[in-house]
Amino acid sequence: MVLVETMFFLLFQHLVLTSGNAVIGHHHHRHHSLLTDKAALLEFKKAIVYDPQSTLANWNEATRVCNFTGVSCNKKRHRVSELLLQDYELVGRLSPIISNLTGLRNLSLVGNHFYGTIPSEIALLRRLHHLLLDRNSFHGSISDSLALPSQLTIVSLLQNNLTGDIPPTFFSNCTMLKVLDLSNNFLSGKIPIEIGNCPNLWSLNLYNNQFTGELPLFLTNNSLANLDVEYNHLSGELPIKFVQKLPNIVYLHLSNNNMISHDGNTNLNPFFTALTNCTSLEELELAGMGLGGVLPSSIGSLGINFSNLLLQENQIFGSIPPNIGNLSKLVVLNLTSNLLNGTISANISQLSNLEQLFLSHNLFASAIPLALGQMTHLGLLDLSHNTFSGDIPSSIGNLVRLNYLFLNNNLLSGSIPPTLGHCTELYKLDLSYNRLTGGIPRELSGLSEIRIFINLSHNQLEGPIPIELSKLEDVQEIDLSSNNLSGSIFPQISSCIALTLINFSHNSLEGKLPDSIGELKNLESFDVSGNHLSGRIPLSLNKSRTLTYLNLSFNNFEGRIPSGGIFESVSYSSFLGNQHLCGPVAVKPACPQKNHLFRSRIFLIIFTLVIFISTSLSIICCVIAFRHIKALISAQRTETARKPAQPELVHNFPRVTYRDLSDATSGFDDQRLLGMSSYGRVYRGVLPDGTTIAVKVLHLQSGNSTKSFTRECQVLRRIRHRNLIRIITACSLPDFKAIVLPYMANGSLDSRLYPHSQTGLSSGSSDLSLIQRLNICSDIAEGMAYLHHHSPVRVIHCDLKPSNVLLNDDMTALVSDFGIARLLIAGGANSALENMGNSTANLLCGSIGYIAPEYGFGSNASTKGDVYSFGILVLEMVTRKRPTDDMFVGGLSLHKWVKNHYHGRVEKVVDSSLMRASRDQPPEVKKMWDVAIGELIELGILCTQESSSTRPTMLDAADDLDRLKRYLCGDTTATFASSLGISSSTLEDD
Ligand SMILES: *[C@@H]1O[C@H](CO)[C@@H](O)[C@H](O)[C@H]1NC(C)=O
Ligand SMILES: *[C@@H]1O[C@H](CO)[C@@H](O)[C@H](O)[C@H]1NC(C)=O
Repeated sequence: MVLVETMFFLLFQHLVLTSGNAVIGHHHHRHHSLLTDKAALLEFKKAIVYDPQSTLANWNEATRVCNFTGVSCNKKRHRVSELLLQDYELVGRLSPIISNLTGLRNLSLVGNHFYGTIPSEIALLRRLHHLLLDRNSFHGSISDSLALPSQLTIVSLLQNNLTGDIPPTFFSNCTMLKVLDLSNNFLSGKIPIEIGNCPNLWSLNLYNNQFTGELPLFLTNNSLANLDVEYNHLSGELPIKFVQKLPNIVYLHLSNNNMISHDGNTNLNPFFTALTNCTSLEELELAGMGLGGVLPSSIGSLGINFSNLLLQENQIFGSIPPNIGNLSKLVVLNLTSNLLNGTISANISQLSNLEQLFLSHNLFASAIPLALGQMTHLGLLDLSHNTFSGDIPSSIGNLVRLNYLFLNNNLLSGSIPPTLGHCTELYKLDLSYNRLTGGIPRELSGLSEIRIFINLSHNQLEGPIPIELSKLEDVQEIDLSSNNLSGSIFPQISSCIALTLINFSHNSLEGKLPDSIGELKNLESFDVSGNHLSGRIPLSLNKSRTLTYLNLSFNNFEGRIPSGGIFESVSYSSFLGNQHLCGPVAVKPACPQKNHLFRSRIFLIIFTLVIFISTSLSIICCVIAFRHIKALISAQRTETARKPAQPELVHNFPRVTYRDLSDATSGFDDQRLLGMSSYGRVYRGVLPDGTTIAVKVLHLQSGNSTKSFTRECQVLRRIRHRNLIRIITACSLPDFKAIVLPYMANGSLDSRLYPHSQTGLSSGSSDLSLIQRLNICSDIAEGMAYLHHHSPVRVIHCDLKPSNVLLNDDMTALVSDFGIARLLIAGGANSALENMGNSTANLLCGSIGYIAPEYGFGSNASTKGDVYSFGILVLEMVTRKRPTDDMFVGGLSLHKWVKNHYHGRVEKVVDSSLMRASRDQPPEVKKMWDVAIGELIELGILCTQESSSTRPTMLDAADDLDRLKRYLCGDTTATFASSLGISSSTLEDD
């Protein structure tokens, strides 16, 4: 649907441009004049009861009508030809007086709050070309007397509350109509056959309504290229005759209706055979209908540009026909949740452009075909939940672009091929629930990009856990449970700093649990139950602030259960079956107590002995230690003396030369440019080992760049957090400075929030869901809170905005670009700026729209300034309006606009796609979503208050968002923003 929408906009632009060139006012009626048009517009204004932005303020007797906001006249300025009032928050009815504007060619009231019925008088606008009433609150049914005027080419009533049937008269005069979009309404009844009166119809969108009956054989034309009727209640057999009449169809989307295949839902062949005549077909969506039948071999004869085939959630059986390999342009093949079986022909490897292959939840029982290894464009391979048997072919290692590999829940045997380590771009690897044997190959350490999880659980793997796994620095979950793994857990596990879940349960691991486990700062769940681990429980576990699940049961742990931290909240069930463990946890026996007198005597003897021994020992130690420390200090001195000019940041990083970076980016080719900022350009690069990187090259001509470069490196070098971008390495020459960062496939938050901005289209929508937006806000808050409060050096970001937030593959947000961050000495109460001297005063702190007001008055950079930028970002996430939007002029700001309108009129400020998604939820979910949206707005407003001292800290904000996330997960005890102790309704009025 997104694609179709884009096409619609492109077409719309095209039509607007061409219509602009057409001769206007050709049949100008003398008895009409601008004066009568003005009278009609003033009458139109009277029906608008609320105009929050005073858009229509200049609609008065004193202004010439051609100068009214939103009004344009034709070239000769005889008549009003356009009325474009988009996204102005206007509330009211659409007055029938509109029909007096008989010269009107374009009418757009998109994104307002017009209610009532659509006046049938629109039928009188004989010159109307474009009628766009999207995203309003029109309700009721379309009147019988509303026949589309004959010149209309685009009609869009998308996303209103229209009900009832479409009257046949609507199409009595639609010979010019090209685009009709009635999606996201509540229209019902049959789709009228009279649509056939529109011979030039090119795109018909009726998705998400309540239409019933069969798709009528309406089209006597052959121009239709896009048909989307998904999410209705259409029934009947798959429409063969229909497609026979549509040789030029490109997008055919019929998913989620009640259609069946031929011969009583058993035969797909007639429909696919009919489709082979549609040589332009690119997308076919027939998902979620329970369609029965064998996948016919005619599938191989679909159009030469055929790219997307979505057939998931049906009852298709048999095998995949080998000639599917003919679809050389196929990009997505989704056959999830069907009844397919048999072998997969090697011909499938001819799908050389395939990027996503979903075959999960079927009945495939063969071996995994070796030929899959030839599909080198594959980014996702899901063969899970079948009964595939045999080995995992080592050729899978050829799929170097693979991000997701799911082979879980099959009957695969043999060992894990070491070549899997070549899939360096893997983010998720799931081989669980198979019959894999042998050891875990150490080559898996090659999966250095792995971010989300490795799941090898429920197999028969044996041998030790390879220490090389400690190289997986970004992996968040490792599940090796229910295997036969032996050996011990190595202390280097703490290098996997991003780990949130470790499950090593039900193996044969032995030895002690390393103390370093407590260093895993993100660990939430730790399960080593059902092993042979012994020794004491590491005290360090009580330091973890994130740990909420701990299971040490059925091991041989001994000694006292530590106290504090996680140990205060876990119950006895975390320690079951450890004979020699004692401690304060309920039910567990208290530590043994010996006879008092006896104990005190023994104690005295031991005490004396200990004192004696330790005194003598410590004297010896002191002498040794003193010598040692002295040696160390002098060594360090000579070290620093030897290379004073060497930039310290080069330590700890892989070395990289100018040549390496130039090769990696094809000589800093513009084709590889990812973005630009005032400090430099960012290129996409590939290192010889296949690692994809982002290379930020600093502009050396700008005065501060060398300093900001050094500063960025200093900051990044010290900082590690899952929501902050990590530096890989740096290259510093006198006339060239660059840093190397991980490449983020999902781009910046800016590009996700405003996906159409590069095409100059302000409309469009973002596919980010409410939960995703909330998670992103929360991630940013966590990262910023770390910078402000927990990092080794306190850092003020100074330029937080959506384009400086990157999204990794699982949509985790990472704050980037510390180029102008200032380092504050940790703990320095008077915030002395070290390393910077006075140079910071010369730096512009931040980007327009995100700069805290106090900076304008010369205030120093502060954490509260970052909080302001963060608040703007949160408001943007909810409203999908940039703070620099054209509407924010004359003292109106994003903060004021939201604050003025959100009470009672939340839908006016909230991004319409969020409102739409919310509307589709069951009532109890919708209620929670509304609360969440309200709380985000509240938080955004709090953070963007004029006075910096009343803004919350990033820690407060992070806590608040965390509670909000818990609330959405059903934790009813969670309370939030209002809980910051202030409510925006009691705030200062700015
Ligand atoms: C609208 O047009 C009708 C018929 O031409 C005319 O009688 C009426 O006065 C017009 N109304 C306004 C407000 O111009
Ligand atoms: C209307 O706008 C034009 C240019 O856009 C300007 O020159 C003219 O002065 C304006 N007239 C009035 C009455 O505002």
